[in-house]
Amino acid sequence: MTNAIPPLKQRAAWKALTAHHAEVGGRHLRQLFAEDPQRAGRFTLEAVGIHYDFSKQRITQETLAMLLQLADESRVAARRDAMFAGEKLNLTEKRAVLHTALRAPKDAKVTVDGANVVPAVHEVLERMAAFADRIRSGEWKGHTGMPIRNIVNIGIGGSDLGPVMAYEALRPYTRRDLTFRFVSNIDGNDLAEATRDLSPDETLFVIASKTFTTMETMVNAQSARAWSLASLKDDAAVAKHFVAVSTHAAEVSKFGIDTANMFGFWDWVGGRYSMESAIGLSTMIAIGPDAFRDLLAGSYAMDEHFLQAPLAQNLPVVMALLGLWNNHFFDAHTVAVLPYENYLKRFPAYLQQMVMESNGKYVTLEGGRVSHHTSPIYWGEPGTNGQHSFYQLIHQGTRLIPADFIAFVKPAHELGRHHDILIANVIAQAEALAFGKTPDEVRAEGTPDWLVPHRTFEGNRPSNMFFLEALTPFALGSLVALYEHCVFVQGVIWNIDSFDQWGVELGKQLAQRIVGELESKAAPALTHDGSTNALIERYRARRG
Ligand code: F6P
Repeated sequence: MTNAIPPLKQRAAWKALTAHHAEVGGRHLRQLFAEDPQRAGRFTLEAVGIHYDFSKQRITQETLAMLLQLADESRVAARRDAMFAGEKLNLTEKRAVLHTALRAPKDAKVTVDGANVVPAVHEVLERMAAFADRIRSGEWKGHTGMPIRNIVNIGIGGSDLGPVMAYEALRPYTRRDLTFRFVSNIDGNDLAEATRDLSPDETLFVIASKTFTTMETMVNAQSARAWSLASLKDDAAVAKHFVAVSTHAAEVSKFGIDTANMFGFWDWVGGRYSMESAIGLSTMIAIGPDAFRDLLAGSYAMDEHFLQAPLAQNLPVVMALLGLWNNHFFDAHTVAVLPYENYLKRFPAYLQQMVMESNGKYVTLEGGRVSHHTSPIYWGEPGTNGQHSFYQLIHQGTRLIPADFIAFVKPAHELGRHHDILIANVIAQAEALAFGKTPDEVRAEGTPDWLVPHRTFEGNRPSNMFFLEALTPFALGSLVALYEHCVFVQGVIWNIDSFDQWGVELGKQLAQRIVGELESKAAPALTHDGSTNALIERYRARRG
């Protein structure tokens, strides 16, 4: 499906938004709330267990109507339907984009190249469940007859960030008598630390790589194999201590893992959208097959909402549009993701890949250059920690930083007043950012005149508030799908390919070349620029 829509700035809705921003952009949230006592209710949506309050965005009803018009003109609904139907929206790699099929129910039909992919999805899920159960029950024995007690996932990017995020997020649901570690970095310290206190005869490595050629993962997997065999002293041990998750059976067997111990997925699952494919094997071992199915159910419920809700009530659509409004019209170049839930500590890192690898693009689908900014920079930390660190800049810095607050009514652990205080803080931060504190209010507190400017808060800083009941597997699945679809909508409006990642290639190629130059005994002549040559020479000289 081609997307012959006019360039963003030539769309009628864009022009209308530009004029509208000139008119309303200067209004303060204080004024907007004062003018409309119904504002909070008017700008709150509720779906899939997510209470989404966007009333602290700098919008009026007209803004929202125009943004929705922009979504219409950009053919968001048609592109969404095309994605769910298996059309090859990943244009540059000629691939369908079907992470949604990973959570489709058994009787659903999703066709790629004429074949329904849903039965294969469920077949892999069942194999994963059988394997996870065998590990969890102790039935699966290591080479020396010991049950597996440690699971080490080796993967990077989408083959790491989803699994580690989900493991951390769902810790209360995990088997506490099993140890889970995640190794991603080529820095040997990562693998060394992850394995230093583990016993090889009780350790299973899950080698997770879509391509099974990623340098970091392959080198880590080889070293893990050596670590394992140094103790187990028998190549046959690999079959008991290594399983693979990949789309490439040939590469898996080349590595020495029996493909009977491989869990497959498909090229229509992008790496950063793969945590609910077999890449989630470690997650399933940790939380069990039933809870894993709840995770899928949460994403599926959000998929259905995204598919069926009118655009004006559609959480991912509204969220995406407000993101564009801030990005383009208020020059907000970053988004702070601020979960008030410690278990979500890896969620910002997970989103960084999902959002920035997807929409960090300057080339349009037609191969031209975009005439506008694309993805903002995502970053963040859990609250309340961030409040004692970078929130100063969010409140009084010179840049506008829209925030996504994420909070839950019920904590996993009831501990005295902790949760009330946590939630008081997240609500307070959104209030402080929106309304600030005027010089008069500061003066009225008895502040001397010279100190008033320093203690004044301009406010008018926009935020989203996502309030959920509890951080369950279902809730996590719904949040993940919410952001996935938000990224999709923005990519459609920007007219870019959100599903390729050519921008990671050059560094990989150069590193391949430089590693040869670092390791070569022959000291080859270097033909890089002067700085690169000097760095290579320095390293070689110092390492001897
Ligand atoms: O280099 C980027 C990338 O290709 C990501 O898109 C991907 O998630 C990651 O590397 C890991 O790739 P693989 O799963 O094939 O090892």
